[in-house]
Amino acid sequence: MGRTIAIANQKGGVGKTTTAINLSACLAEAGQKVLIIDIDPQGNTTSGYGLSKDGSSNTVYEVILQECNIKDAIIKNVADIENLDIISSNVNLAGAEIDLIDIDNREYSLKSAIKEIRDEYDYIILDCPPSLSMLTVNAMTAADSVLVPIQCEYYALEGLTQLIHTVNLVKKKLNPDLKLEGVVFTMYDSRTNLSLQVVENVKDNLQENIYKTIIPRNIRLAEAPSHGLPINLYDSKSSGAESYRMLAAEVIANK
Ligand SMILES: Nc1ncnc2c1ncn2[C@@H]1O[C@H](COP(=O)(O)OP(=O)(O)OP(=O)(O)O)[C@@H](O)[C@H]1O
Ligand SMILES: [Mg+2]
Repeated sequence: MGRTIAIANQKGGVGKTTTAINLSACLAEAGQKVLIIDIDPQGNTTSGYGLSKDGSSNTVYEVILQECNIKDAIIKNVADIENLDIISSNVNLAGAEIDLIDIDNREYSLKSAIKEIRDEYDYIILDCPPSLSMLTVNAMTAADSVLVPIQCEYYALEGLTQLIHTVNLVKKKLNPDLKLEGVVFTMYDSRTNLSLQVVENVKDNLQENIYKTIIPRNIRLAEAPSHGLPINLYDSKSSGAESYRMLAAEVIANK
């Protein structure tokens, strides 16, 4: 049965989407059957995989609002990757918050949809928006665990207490089995002392599991989405590709 991992941090631009795209692709490369669901109205995961955001197909919006069956929103073999399917998103999702008011058990909407297809996947990866909104709550309610990307910069820990509080709240009220999968450092710059200091500081102050893999700042990771490809296909030998492969191996080992 598919292990569902929500990639969440209400801070913007910390590497959630980059991690969702490349972790999912590297899990697929390692032979796992993966579904990635874009739960952000920005649709960066959708465009990062080369898909259009014009709304010509069913998206996660129709799934969450129970307007279509989840099976009819799945796009198979995205970027021609055999083991990887996706559910896309677009700006319509920004209205879901309000539209959900009319739905019974709205916190469980995504969870009950995912239940129908869980058996078909080894991993289901959820890319969350930069907020602790009803969309993020839906993702955390549907998930087995939350993986938190942390950018190696001065304000790294800011907001983390609130995020952990939200995880605990969801755990208490909606999803008793939810776990904090761990935090992963992103955009590590080995040329500066700051990155190193941030890593040391977070290690000293955080009780949660921290992944051994640290994602370096790598220009190839920033370029890949404009080609509609994950890093392992865009530049297979780059440091970005190597590090996301290592993260995927850690996630697989961390059962
Ligand atoms: N390791 C990295 N090396 C270089 N650039 C990176 C790296 N990780 C992310 N970026 C770039 O940083 C920017 C923010 O990354 P990303 O979109 O993954 O963050 P996010 O947390 O999903 O943002 P949002 O909160 O808006 O959804 C993007 O332009 C991305 O290409
Ligand atoms: Mg994003």
